[in-house]
Amino acid sequence: MAVAAKRAAAPRQNPATIIAVGSGKGGVGKTWFSVSLACAFGRSSKRALLVDCDLGLANVDVQLGVRPEADLSSVMRGWLELDQAVTPVLGGPGRAAGFDLLPGHSGSGALGALKLEEVHRIATGVTELAPRYDRILLDLAAGIDPNVMRFARAANRVVVVTTEEPPALTDAYAFLKVLRLAQPAAQPWIVVNMADTRGSGRRIYEQLAKASESYLGYRPPLAGVICRDPRVSDSIRAQTPISVRHPQSQAFEDVLRIAEVLSA
Ligand SMILES: Nc1ncnc2c1ncn2[C@@H]1O[C@H](COP(=O)(O)OP(=O)(O)OP(=O)(O)O)[C@@H](O)[C@H]1O
Ligand SMILES: [Mg+2]
Repeated sequence: MAVAAKRAAAPRQNPATIIAVGSGKGGVGKTWFSVSLACAFGRSSKRALLVDCDLGLANVDVQLGVRPEADLSSVMRGWLELDQAVTPVLGGPGRAAGFDLLPGHSGSGALGALKLEEVHRIATGVTELAPRYDRILLDLAAGIDPNVMRFARAANRVVVVTTEEPPALTDAYAFLKVLRLAQPAAQPWIVVNMADTRGSGRRIYEQLAKASESYLGYRPPLAGVICRDPRVSDSIRAQTPISVRHPQSQAFEDVLRIAEVLSA
């Protein structure tokens, strides 16, 4: 569906909590989780903005099946202000499960190729939008390079996504380490995605929390476990949010619970 860009919502009193969703390893479900979390916040009447910080790959609009008229490339070229590149999704904030999207842009090369100043300008601009929303979600690119960490630094809360597989766990630990080195006050949370069961997910979380406690002196709290659910890939293939296609699914229920934990 083609959707028109519009000016972002008018200023509100309390600035949004900015939540960055990162991981060391790619493909652990950050984008799907960020989209679903935005829907979950929309359902609980929170005005949410989702920012596709994986510049160069434009993951979010593809998962959602939207064709935005504007994206962050126009902002980086100085053609548009950040709030003019906002695209409403599912009717935008204020509608059931609706939210605003700042789309990334594809075909421009990877985030790592951008100058840190460009990333800095976008990250600062996003924080200036905080008075207009209740929640701002930053869907980060995989990895721990400086451009990814610059976005993470703009957040009040960082959620590190891992799966149960050892490479994802090792890379999640690396993300925690680099983040805490750069920002000792950061208190990142953990989400275990694609877990076989809630119990196995919790056991994996314990491993990561113990390693972090022993070697980094910080025990990250668990935001929640999301079970592996075939309705996730079904929704992605249909380019429809899971909140619309499978609102009763286990995976979306897990996300709703995490939205509550992160709002507490
Ligand atoms: N809970 C889940 N159950 C089943 N499959 C899932 C689940 N979460 C994610 N997936 C699958 O994982 C794939 C990768 O998800 P996604 O693109 O969101 O990962 P990502 O971490 O954003 O990747 P990248 O690092 O490339 O940006 C999806 O296409 C989906 O099929
Ligand atoms: Mg992604």
